[in-house]
Amino acid sequence: MTRRQLVGTSWKMNFTTGEARQYLRALLPLVRDLHSRDLFVLPPFTSLWVAREELAGTAIAWGAQDVHESLSGAHTGDISAPMLVDLGCRYVEVGHSERRRDHGERDPHIALKVATAIGCGLEVILCVGESCPMPTPMARSMVLRHLGAILGGRKPQDLDRVVVAYEPAWAIGAGARPAAVDHVSAIHLAVRNWLGGRGSSDPRVIYGGSVGPESCADLLVQPGVDGLFVGRAALDPGEFARIAHAGVEPTGQPAAASQSVAT
Ligand code: PGA
Repeated sequence: MTRRQLVGTSWKMNFTTGEARQYLRALLPLVRDLHSRDLFVLPPFTSLWVAREELAGTAIAWGAQDVHESLSGAHTGDISAPMLVDLGCRYVEVGHSERRRDHGERDPHIALKVATAIGCGLEVILCVGESCPMPTPMARSMVLRHLGAILGGRKPQDLDRVVVAYEPAWAIGAGARPAAVDHVSAIHLAVRNWLGGRGSSDPRVIYGGSVGPESCADLLVQPGVDGLFVGRAALDPGEFARIAHAGVEPTGQPAAASQSVAT
């Protein structure tokens, strides 16, 4: 059985509502022929309604970049999971290193957000990764430690609602480079193993960190890589479409069934 790969982007703090609409209108025709991969877009909260208007009825899912752990209440400026569900979100991203850096989020807090999001029926894109470059075995232990702290208490069926995004913080953002493919593959296989060992029937692990048109094809064929999570490069809809098509024949099917997607 081959797994469908998942390719998504977070726009982070970019695009007004008008720009969001323009982006999505440019993207849709560029990916209409892509039948073999699933795509998602995570706009800022302010443009989720635009995503719903433009993407409802298409194959592209949308979601948010963060969520509060409470369902409602006195939390000025925050957004709850029911609000995201109301806007048609399928996904919510939790635990990005920029949230750790800018908002001091730590594993226990992230674990609460994951529990709330799953409880409300959302699928979670859970970002984990080492903060600075280090040898693969050390990075693997660090990532598995984070997973234990965040997902340790979750039931197997909850784990099937989580997509782990392996995102080494040092590989993210301007001036950075993606992690080496063998490093990425080793971490992904360890994460899949960890999830499988806790009863997940569908472990999904995508890679994020300076993914671009040059690196995407190589990453997508690595064992254990179930997709990509793209930042800067996907701020251009044409580039996002190119990345989403990497290694795919004009028929819309992957050029060759790769080991990486075999379950
Ligand atoms: P980048 O961001 O592609 O701009 O490095 C990746 C991410 O934060 O997921």
